[in-house]
Amino acid sequence: MPSTSAQQAFDQTVGGQRDPWTRLAALRRDLGVVEGDAVPDAGAGNDDGGRRFAVLRYDDCARVLRDNVTFSSRVYERVMGPVMGHTILEMDEPEHGRFRRLAGHAFRHKALQRWESELIGPLAQETIGRFAGRGHAELVRELTFPFPVQVIARILGLPRRDYPMFQELAFTLTSVGAGYRASREASHQLAAYLLPIVRDRRASPDDDLISELALAEIDGQALSDEEIVSYLRLLLPAGSETTYCSIGSLLFALLTHRDQLDDIRREGALVPRAIEELLRWEPAIPFIPRLATRDVTIADVAIPAGARVTLCLGSANRDETRFAEPDRFDIHRLEQQQLAFASGPHMCLGMHLARMEMRVVLDAVLDRLPDVELAPGPEGSDTADPHMHGLGFRKPTCLPVRFTPRS
Ligand code: HEM
Repeated sequence: MPSTSAQQAFDQTVGGQRDPWTRLAALRRDLGVVEGDAVPDAGAGNDDGGRRFAVLRYDDCARVLRDNVTFSSRVYERVMGPVMGHTILEMDEPEHGRFRRLAGHAFRHKALQRWESELIGPLAQETIGRFAGRGHAELVRELTFPFPVQVIARILGLPRRDYPMFQELAFTLTSVGAGYRASREASHQLAAYLLPIVRDRRASPDDDLISELALAEIDGQALSDEEIVSYLRLLLPAGSETTYCSIGSLLFALLTHRDQLDDIRREGALVPRAIEELLRWEPAIPFIPRLATRDVTIADVAIPAGARVTLCLGSANRDETRFAEPDRFDIHRLEQQQLAFASGPHMCLGMHLARMEMRVVLDAVLDRLPDVELAPGPEGSDTADPHMHGLGFRKPTCLPVRFTPRS
């Protein structure tokens, strides 16, 4: 889920927004775990002057993610809690498992199959159809940004006419790095918008996730309106922002590695490999926070109880002890297990949906725009220099492309 460190603090660490990887690689090789400000603080909202550490290697990150007793997710209470409310993101067991199960089945692979043919496929075709005849487009603005929010909104059961409004609210809500005031305001507005819908679905349920949550019970007790609204305040941005970043990054990776794009064109079965490699190479959320609940040692570094621990998923995914030439984007590499979705009890609830959206959009782009290529704008324009950017969320700055016009 969204890392929320202040953007300025991020800028001052690890060499800036464009290439954090070179500096992280040196820290990973030399130290493995670092204390202090050398690495962005994924738990920045908790800045209480306490000690903080960053974990950079794959095996260490995986170990922390598995051990949710020693490394608690409660750390999110003060980062996202003020704007999202009490959500599964910040819950520990057993509360976490009970709440996660309520929405979990809706995001299982099997349950999602219906959405591919009913919603995601047609939406990809429709969105690309709006510019396919033009011969050029800016794919972030016209495709990757508006796409995922429509998918999650439909699964939740929100009216189509409201999509642009809550997309903006959802993104403001997660931008706590830009200031809590705007995020809190967005959170209130989102709650005011969602509450009547929740009440309506309690009275007349439909085939959507809001209705399921409205009818759900934990130990014979229905969820309160506030509990449901908090769940939705997590699912909306979680389902849109990360996926928008990742679809854009996938297209960027392939448009800047033409040989591999050609491989995929020749052999469509390579698409899932390209998706896993992208998730490894440029995970949308490179840093996530945890709280140490007891004294513990990682990579010979003593971490005291109460310290904040940032897991550098992006660094773990480039750990050279696990991935050969880790900075290279290579869809043919054999080792593909990566940590973009974290792992353990809080592993991303929407990972199958995210993968499906990435696959469907890529297939539709290859189908409708077979000769698509990157076409940066003139020097000085907004689209002159498309590149990967960001530390809170990684994504391409823009994706200007040209292609043979087709109807
Ligand atoms: C490529 C896109 C995505 C990426 C990279 C991503 C990444 C992550 C990560 C790293 C976490 C773990 C956070 C932590 O434990 O601190 C997470 C959790 C979560 N994600 Fe995603 N996510 C993506 C898409 C989605 C989608 C489409 C949904 C739609 C519902 C979603 C819903 C959630 C939820 C609800 C959680 C909290 C799970 C829990 O705490 O048990 N994510 N995601």
